[in-house]
Amino acid sequence: MVKPTKEKVEVGQEFTVEIGAMVHGGHALAYPKGNTAFVRHAIPGESARIRITEVRSKFIRADAIEILNASEHRVQAPCVWAHPGGCGGCDFQHVELSEQRRIKGAIARESLMRHAGVDPGEAEAIPLRDDHGLHWRSRMRWSVDQGGNAGLLAVRTHGVLPIDECILATRAIAAAKVTERQWPGVESVHTVQGSNQAVSIWADRELIDGGRKVTQHVHDREWEIGASDFWQVHPDAAPAIVDFVIAAAAPQSGERWLDLYAGAGLISAFLGEAVGAEGRVHAVESYRSALRDGRRALADLTQVEFIEADVSTWNLPSQVDGIVLDPPRRGAGVEVMAAIAAAQPRAVVYVACDPVAFARDASFLMGAGYALAEFSVLDAFPMTHHMECIAKFVPGAQSDLGPVQAIKVNRIR
Ligand SMILES: C[S@@+](CC[C@H](N)C(=O)[O-])C[C@H]1O[C@@H](n2cnc3c(N)ncnc32)[C@H](O)[C@@H]1O
Repeated sequence: MVKPTKEKVEVGQEFTVEIGAMVHGGHALAYPKGNTAFVRHAIPGESARIRITEVRSKFIRADAIEILNASEHRVQAPCVWAHPGGCGGCDFQHVELSEQRRIKGAIARESLMRHAGVDPGEAEAIPLRDDHGLHWRSRMRWSVDQGGNAGLLAVRTHGVLPIDECILATRAIAAAKVTERQWPGVESVHTVQGSNQAVSIWADRELIDGGRKVTQHVHDREWEIGASDFWQVHPDAAPAIVDFVIAAAAPQSGERWLDLYAGAGLISAFLGEAVGAEGRVHAVESYRSALRDGRRALADLTQVEFIEADVSTWNLPSQVDGIVLDPPRRGAGVEVMAAIAAAQPRAVVYVACDPVAFARDASFLMGAGYALAEFSVLDAFPMTHHMECIAKFVPGAQSDLGPVQAIKVNRIR
């Protein structure tokens, strides 16, 4: 697509454009009057009438308000709130589910090629369930307006929409009917569901209904998790991530592994089982509540040691067999990646919820002598632009490795 010379544009102006590639963040590119526009509600290849919603110095934002030539992948959004100016929770309701997964794979691939100079090949995001991509959100934050009504935020605003039903919420959370109650003086309501369907409801920090902890089962292990601890939102994500990580890591009896950003020890538990009583797993986490819940859940695995530390300042041991890291959205950063390479593990398995931050970290690790051996993308957040990437790095040069492989999963139970 030819990008013409940039002309000044204003919020509210409308243009007819050709929609270009989908980029990370749930929007597609277009170039009205030479401006780089991030367009929501569009699909690559479409022509559309767009309306500008925000003007910044380097880019603008816009909504597709009329589709003039629709993509074959366009579908009717299943939620009535998924429209320009509507709910900000979903990005892809108007896109066929299989195409959403192709787009996510392409964005992860493009990120790695652009930031780390490595092509993982075509990788479609793998579905966790054979369903319609609905009813999976087991943790929801509802915003409350001045009148005490709970709803969800309109896209890129603090305005609360009176959404009576979110079709991404699990059926147990929908049954809690948060939006039918009044919440005077409350800022937000949190609903957290465990594996056993029990839902805890919190109004700000006050527990209103259910237990202080929810029970989470992964394979045949059990955690009691505090509402503020990290836990995967899609009910099938935690077991899938464990299976992919353990398949990629292939931890052996007697080995020493690090689990960085360990949360309540989801991955440490299964690394610990694999390395056995002769091995060792150091689970490094900074959030005290997660550490407490993790120590309790993994009390039977004496080979797993929880360490309360900030990964960015913790001194990594100099010799380990393998390292798993699952950092927050911003990634781990150059110093942590350098420390990981300096520990000379035989394998580094990276779990990432942001493909761009991950690709930058990948470039740091590759610059320190590692190569990308295996890569897969999971569709852990259908209807949204979010995804989970899992990658295995090994020591050596990329050119010596051959093509990057998809992770071959062995279900561990
Ligand atoms: C994406 S979660 C992963 C948790 C775990 N692997 C799981 O799947 O349940 C990231 C975790 O890193 C922790 N964390 C964030 N920044 C950290 C830091 N600088 N040092 C240690 N832990 C950190 C968070 O508290 C959170 O538990």
